[in-house]
Order: sequence, then structure tokens, then C-alpha cells
Amino acid sequence: MRFQPAIFTAALAAVGVEARPKNGELSRRASPTIYLAGDSTMAKTASPLMGWGEYLGKYVSVPVVNKAISGRSARSYWNEGRFTEIEKLVAAGDVVVIEFGHNDGGSPNSASDNGRSDCPGTALDTTCKSGKTGETVYTFAYYVEDAARRFVAKGALVVVSSQTPNNMWEGGKYGTGASRFVEYAARAAKDVGAPGATFVDHFQAVAALYLKLGNAKTNALYPKDHTHTSPEGADLVAQAFVQAIAGDFNGTTPLKQYVKLPAPSVF
Ligand SMILES: *[C@@H]1O[C@H](CO)[C@@H](O)[C@H](O)[C@H]1NC(C)=O
Repeated sequence: MRFQPAIFTAALAAVGVEARPKNGELSRRASPTIYLAGDSTMAKTASPLMGWGEYLGKYVSVPVVNKAISGRSARSYWNEGRFTEIEKLVAAGDVVVIEFGHNDGGSPNSASDNGRSDCPGTALDTTCKSGKTGETVYTFAYYVEDAARRFVAKGALVVVSSQTPNNMWEGGKYGTGASRFVEYAARAAKDVGAPGATFVDHFQAVAALYLKLGNAKTNALYPKDHTHTSPEGADLVAQAFVQAIAGDFNGTTPLKQYVKLPAPSVF
């Protein structure tokens, strides 16, 4: 049986395929998808907690696929092939948000290496040896930049987002000072380069949100520990992210065009 051209075209339109890519041309989806790579603070987690990635979809006009997983660092996400899984899924025009840091500290050289600590420092060619398994461990920059470059090679766009802060009002006093992974995230985005990779300081956006909320309201968002938020907290952390994107907090990112207006205003 031969295809009727008109029916064939209609079928293609129905599944959202714009056109058959020519040889060597990257395939582009009719509607982009936002993929999220991160840890428990972004992931779908269990009550009384929730990660902010579950709320991003409320504030953007395109689908969000939350691939964040609890307990992961840039290193363990990379080692488990999680970035590769996203690499296989992305098409040109999709956006991948990479946000790690909470589980990336510590020393991989120690005999009790937890499989998550990155090699300290920011150089791409600095390596460590796991004190537990003997495996080669790379820096945060290495893992994030390697993933970002692979996504960009497929025509996707990467937003490197800095990790969220912990409860900044723990103990009743507003704490200052950012995790070193904030600076590392900014640097990784810069190394890969715009427009493929851009940066947003989610840490600073949430820090500003908490300063505005004050002690009691911020503490109420942390029902269990100082790292993981309640669903209400996760929604606010998502809104702070979107506000930072909408306001070009650290430069324009490709996510801006997908922010539903009016954008949230929480800090
Ligand atoms: C991101 O932008 C905000 C607002 O201008 C600023 O306070 C923050 O320091 C910037 N972050 C970095 C890592 O440059």
C-alpha cells in the first residue's frame, strides 16, 4: 500500500513533527520540552517534603519533565548515566536545567567516599582517586560541562542553575554566605558559553525570597530538616526560579520566552 501524501502530512502534523530533517540537520520539535536534572530539592519526594521541580510547570507554557533524583550529586548523576539518559531524549530547542551542589561536597579521597563527593576545585583536568573504590573522580565543572556540551551538541539549550540554599533562618538569625557550588555553577555555564549554556543564580533568588519572608515564615517551610522544603516551600522556590528567569537575574536564558505572564514576584 502506498501513502497518500495528504494523509501522510496530516499524520506527521498530528504527532507534532514539523518536517522530515534533511541529512545532517538536527531534528527540532514543534514544542520544546524542559528537562530538569538535579537532587532531592528539585525531585518529586514524599510527604511532608517536595522538590521545586514539581511546581515549575505551573509557571511555564511548555511541558516539564522532572528527572531530578534524591541523593544525587553531579558526580553520581553522571556515573549512573542519568545525563546520558537525558541526552538521548533531547531534541533541538529543548532546554535542560542542571542544578546540583547539595550532595557534591566532601572528600572523595577518604576511605569512606560516599560516591557523591566531587574532586575539589574547578579545573577540568584535576582528578582525584576515590579512597574507597579507586575510581577516578572529576570536578563539579567536569561533570556539569561534559553534560552541558553533550546537550548543546544535540541543539538543546542548557541553563546551569545554582543550588538552593538551606533554611537561611535556622536558629532565628538570617545567615549569609553561599555554597561554593554557586560560583562553580556560574563558572561552568561561562566555560561552555552562551547561547548554548547560560546561568541563573537560584541560590541568590531564594536567599532574597527568605530575607523577604522573614524568620517564622521561612522556618515553617522546613518541616523536617534544614535542606528539604514542604510542598508550599517548593512552590515558592519554583516561583523564585521563574522570577529570576523572567527578570534576567544573571543574564537572559532561553527559558524566559516560556514564562507565563504575569511572572511570579516573590522576592
Ligand atoms: C546573580 O544576579 C544577582 C542579582 O543581580 C546577584 O545578586 C548575584 O550575585 C548574581 N550571581 C552570581 C553568581 O553572579
